Amino acid sequence: MANENIKVLIDEKTLAKRIAEIGAQITKEHAGREVILVPVLKGSFMFAADLARAIDLPTNIEFLGLQSYAGTKSTGVVQITSDLTRSVADKDVIIIEDIVDTGLTMTYLLENLQTRKPRSLKIASLLHKPARSKVHVDIDYLGFTIEDVFVIGYGLDYDGRYRNLPYVGVLEL
Ligand code: PRP
Repeated sequence: MANENIKVLIDEKTLAKRIAEIGAQITKEHAGREVILVPVLKGSFMFAADLARAIDLPTNIEFLGLQSYAGTKSTGVVQITSDLTRSVADKDVIIIEDIVDTGLTMTYLLENLQTRKPRSLKIASLLHKPARSKVHVDIDYLGFTIEDVFVIGYGLDYDGRYRNLPYVGVLEL
């Protein structure tokens, strides 16, 4: 694949090291419990796959499909396109996201999942872009804080492409 116009922002080694640390922290903080990992599609799929392997606990994985309504991404109006397949009542749940940008999607998700009465509800996000924040979100397990740049790769897309890059990059258009 020709990737000349992509600058590597976070390379594979750096991702792996940080994800191993987050996995160890989650393992320690949930010792003796089962955790329900909830990756939010599509962007989190690669982070979720690596993070799940870094967690040494009994786990279940329940994917959540979300879509921003066309043209309303900045308002946080989102639609669940594929819901969890089982109840999370009384369970220890960790939402897995690729990025918290405005924070609106996560705020919606937290409200929605709280109504399902989990025992605990935590957030793991690979990236946080505070420059874009519209609403504060407490990220329990954060990979990296980034500048206000357009990131792709490692699950993140530009018009549906680049999700398969093994690193986080910046697309220089
Ligand atoms: C991205 C990301 C979050 C959301 C964060 O999803 O995965 O769900 O945007 O943005 P916010 O903090 O401004 O709400 P996107 O809509 O790009 O869909 P995708 O995961 O399918 O790529």
